[in-house]
Amino acid sequence: MTAMDTFAARYLSGDALWGDDFTPQQIEEWFADEREAYADLGSASSCAEAYGYHGLNLQSGYRHLPGRRFAHALGVGSAFGGEFLPLLERIDKITILEPSSRLRSTDLRSVPLRYVDPSPAGDMPFETDTFELAVCLGVLHHIPNVTKVVQEMGRVVAPGGWVVIREPVISMGDWRSRQHPGLTKRERGIPRRLLEAAVRDAGFSIQSSVFCAATLTPRIGRVLRRNLYGTRWGAAVDRALAVSTAWNYRYHADNLWQKLRPSAVCIVAQRQ
Ligand SMILES: C[S@@+](CC[C@H](N)C(=O)[O-])C[C@H]1O[C@@H](n2cnc3c(N)ncnc32)[C@H](O)[C@@H]1O
Repeated sequence: MTAMDTFAARYLSGDALWGDDFTPQQIEEWFADEREAYADLGSASSCAEAYGYHGLNLQSGYRHLPGRRFAHALGVGSAFGGEFLPLLERIDKITILEPSSRLRSTDLRSVPLRYVDPSPAGDMPFETDTFELAVCLGVLHHIPNVTKVVQEMGRVVAPGGWVVIREPVISMGDWRSRQHPGLTKRERGIPRRLLEAAVRDAGFSIQSSVFCAATLTPRIGRVLRRNLYGTRWGAAVDRALAVSTAWNYRYHADNLWQKLRPSAVCIVAQRQ
């Protein structure tokens, strides 16, 4: 077996997650590469009010949350905090773990907002059971030590509290030799089975886990000149595409046909 065969059998097959078994030094290097990588892609000039995924988040995640109040919410990699806007009337205060110094808001309408730097090791500087809600949308795939970070989410969310996680569940290409336009150097999706296992092992009970972000959706959006993820009807179209291509789901695609599949999963889970 060549080194490539071994790598493909272990990581591109989706059996193990690239990065999750890294040494502390490898994790530090990855963290440093990603710290400002999303800001460097051009998002630093954006803001919370310009957030473009509300339809997707409502359709695949937030509608599965209970209608209760959340005294203290945690955003993991929430950048400007725009993803919280649909929930804002039910939240008293928000803390955001965000490595970038350029992806930060000064406030979020009237809700107090505090930023905290994450650590490469993944330890979160919060007491156990601090939060009633944690939101982590499109972030874990930028992080090497995913299992550790999800474990920490399980520790800092109080029993009965909730988590919403949406992540790519496809490889996003062969990340070893990549400088792909529009992607950061290190990002890679997380195999669905491994992501759900990490959430369960962290003490959460999964209440909903749905495929979303079909690979066809952005193409249809370009034809219609619409961001389909921004509205509920657009997200419903995406959901239909994701469901109808779910049979073709695989972690790593070798050809165009295999790429016809949902690319992400949204999980809503309650802390036991
Ligand atoms: C694709 S963006 C998603 C931002 C936001 N959640 C959204 O949905 O628009 C990825 C975010 O993860 C942040 N990030 C990267 N490494 C991180 C880490 N180790 N811990 C927390 N956030 C991280 C990035 O700075 C960026 O804000």
